[in-house]
Amino acid sequence: MNVPIELRSDNAAGAAPEILAAIGAADVGSALAYGDDLWTAGLQTMVREMFEHPEATVFPVISGTAANSLALAAMCPPWGAVLCHETAHIMQSEGGATSMFSGGAVMRGLTGDEHHLVGAHDVQAAYDATRWGDNHHSQPAVLSLTNPTDFGTIYSPERVAALSAVARARSLRVHMDGARIANAIAALGCTPAELTWRAGVDVFSLGAMKNGSVSTDAIVCFDPAVAAQLHYRLKRAGHVASKMRFQSVQLQAYLRDGLWLRLAAAANRAMAKLAAGLSGLGLQFVDHPDVNMVFVRVDESVIVRMEHSGLFFYRMGPGLIRLVTSFQTTDAEIDDAVARIAAAVAGNDR
Ligand SMILES: Cc1ncc(COP(=O)(O)O)c(C=O)c1O
Repeated sequence: MNVPIELRSDNAAGAAPEILAAIGAADVGSALAYGDDLWTAGLQTMVREMFEHPEATVFPVISGTAANSLALAAMCPPWGAVLCHETAHIMQSEGGATSMFSGGAVMRGLTGDEHHLVGAHDVQAAYDATRWGDNHHSQPAVLSLTNPTDFGTIYSPERVAALSAVARARSLRVHMDGARIANAIAALGCTPAELTWRAGVDVFSLGAMKNGSVSTDAIVCFDPAVAAQLHYRLKRAGHVASKMRFQSVQLQAYLRDGLWLRLAAAANRAMAKLAAGLSGLGLQFVDHPDVNMVFVRVDESVIVRMEHSGLFFYRMGPGLIRLVTSFQTTDAEIDDAVARIAAAVAGNDR
């Protein structure tokens, strides 16, 4: 029996040792609750410095869904529409959380290009289809970009800036679902500021859980008007943890000395190695993996043999699987996974 190899999701990975150690180190004495502690104040300062923005505000929350939906609810009126790619997690996999928290805002899915990226023409088409000022029709109020996309492709700072300009032309705010933003920044080699506010992003979800934290993601807000709302909205949604210091210290450790980017780069490298191995076997990808995720077209019989070989991955549809690496994926695991897939392709059980 082979040892299982985890390629289902980076959510299945464990925690980074640096983050676990930081939680232990914060367990000293008492500290005021609900974010009035030194760790949360330190995190605030750190985020302003790292993102080069004096008004940036960070709000720890316990999931990517909370980060996205609460931020979007603060950015979009109840009669508004959030424009996003039709495959976006916020539209397909968050159970309508944004509509619930916003009091009725809807998602409008855009088709995007062959790389699952929204283009300026998609946004323009949504504008053209809107009956502006007609109270029978939801009014576009936010453009949300998922970076990396749910298919493992990325928006460059230039592309984000171009889309933000189209959004601004109709006074839309710009949101970024950054559940894996560290993977995007590591792949692009840009600064955090370049991919966010300098490219016109008002608010983004800072994912940490898929990349080494134990129990925290965060919202980072560059718009004081949205931050003022989040102050109340987060409390009402139950996202102001009394022991916030243990969330804040995780985020501090995550961002300190580039740990988040090193972890993400490791996950990206593991995927690049896996993708090279799979290409060598002649397998076809839906998209070139820019970060740590790839969708692969494989015959059903091969999928079954892969499953029997102890590889853990998700089936996304007939003849389509998703493989995801994490900061914990080792070179040895990738070599072993490629060998098992080679055997499965050749028709052998391994
Ligand atoms: C792109 C994207 N956004 C948001 C989320 C939501 O994160 P969570 O599952 O922590 O709510 C996920 C989770 O997989 C995701 O892949």
